[in-house]
Amino acid sequence: MTGTAFPDGFLWGVAFAANQAEGSYDADGKGLSQADVVPFAKASDYVDLHELMSPTPERIARAAATPGTAGYPKRRGSLFYERWEEDVESFARLGIRALRLSIAWSRIFPDGDDDEPNEAGLAFYERLFARLGEHGIEPVVTLSHYEMPLHLVTEYGGWANRRVIALFERYADVVLRRYKGLVRNWLTFNEINTTVIEPYTGGGVIDDGSGDRAQRAYQALHHQFVASALVTRRAREIDPEARIGCMLARMLHYPATSDPADVQQAQHDNDMNLAHSDVQVRGAYPGIIRRHWREHGIEVRMEPEDERILAENTVDFLSFSYYMTLVSAVDPSKYGATGGNLFSTIKNEHLETSEWGWHLDPIGLRIALTDLWTRYQVPLFIVENGLGASDRVEPDGSVRDDYRIDYLRRHLQQAAEAVADGVDLMGYTVWGGIDIVSASTSQMTKRYGLVHVDLDDEGRGTGDRTPKASFDWYREVIATDGASL
Ligand code: BG6
Repeated sequence: MTGTAFPDGFLWGVAFAANQAEGSYDADGKGLSQADVVPFAKASDYVDLHELMSPTPERIARAAATPGTAGYPKRRGSLFYERWEEDVESFARLGIRALRLSIAWSRIFPDGDDDEPNEAGLAFYERLFARLGEHGIEPVVTLSHYEMPLHLVTEYGGWANRRVIALFERYADVVLRRYKGLVRNWLTFNEINTTVIEPYTGGGVIDDGSGDRAQRAYQALHHQFVASALVTRRAREIDPEARIGCMLARMLHYPATSDPADVQQAQHDNDMNLAHSDVQVRGAYPGIIRRHWREHGIEVRMEPEDERILAENTVDFLSFSYYMTLVSAVDPSKYGATGGNLFSTIKNEHLETSEWGWHLDPIGLRIALTDLWTRYQVPLFIVENGLGASDRVEPDGSVRDDYRIDYLRRHLQQAAEAVADGVDLMGYTVWGGIDIVSASTSQMTKRYGLVHVDLDDEGRGTGDRTPKASFDWYREVIATDGASL
């Protein structure tokens, strides 16, 4: 199967998030964000990824009082804020038609509850979106990608506090109006299901040891669902051209065996993952999640109008990230484990893993696409897929990342198969584009880019950009609309 299956207007692109790429964490009036206080961890340190990704109040206070970028790589990112013009030039050479990026909320409202927006922050994104437009590159903009203003985390309790909904709506209102005509495709929350997996990362909810973590996480998630629906409504009022998507970390689970109990467990785990897109695409909580709340003593407080708001403001398309698949079993302790960015899973003996232990599963992408299409019948958009690897720079400065080409090719071939089967796929954006700081471990050396950035985990290096072998390969894929795959 060649990639000629991809439809006209297919959004070939690359993707990254503000907190992982921009750096300049205190420039031009930006406030501290929740990502700015998450420290770097060496590979050997991140035995407990949850502890790393969920700082305590004490760790946050210490970090907030520590100026500079040392030890906090997301404050430096890959210098995109300083070097965005050359990056956009290189994206134009790559021939992309879409750039998925996020707005740092704390550039627009430094504390989240400020009276007025920060003009310097607004102007930065305006220049960026306009330049993309000159190159025929559509921005696909995420409003919230693991990055709320830190003030809302420490003073409000993050998304567990209902008052944050109105603050988010105001922020969204400001950027929707300002960038009308420049941005058409919007995503509300990145990987919204992360909020119940890593409540700090997904919802700015600090683990204060009080033991009601799940309760606060589901409350935060509910507030995000309502906020997303309200912003969807507002976007349509402001700009009838706007298209609004939700964004799910699709975690496809396979059963460990054909024992019906394992199969049912996998179905349950898939349905719990898809419960998030059920709310945002279908407009209502499915029974499985309500049962989960009952059985775990979780009481999600809702206002009388919430269910109507969710039902009336469903999204136009479903976007998702896909990196790996997982395995479910009634008794997981019988099996060995492997890694993932948010948790570990049973090892699938049929699959190889990345250096970070993530299952490599291109066919799983076809299964995920077909399954999502069958369930929802709305356009789909793969907004994250890519390989984190520790690239080697050759003496001549080149990076021969054949393993990344292989990863991307095999995933795109499977996407083409799904499209040939009738799946409505809007686009595909490779995660990274340029090398960025890892979301989970804050490593710079876990590289996702098609363009090498000369910075290491400690921030040493020139920051200079060099296209990798995968850059040329992807340029050809785009130029031929996938026929070269
Ligand atoms: C996704 C996130 O979960 O995974 C990205 O949306 C992240 O922000 C990506 O970078 C890869 O994870 P990591 O931890 O390897 O950067």
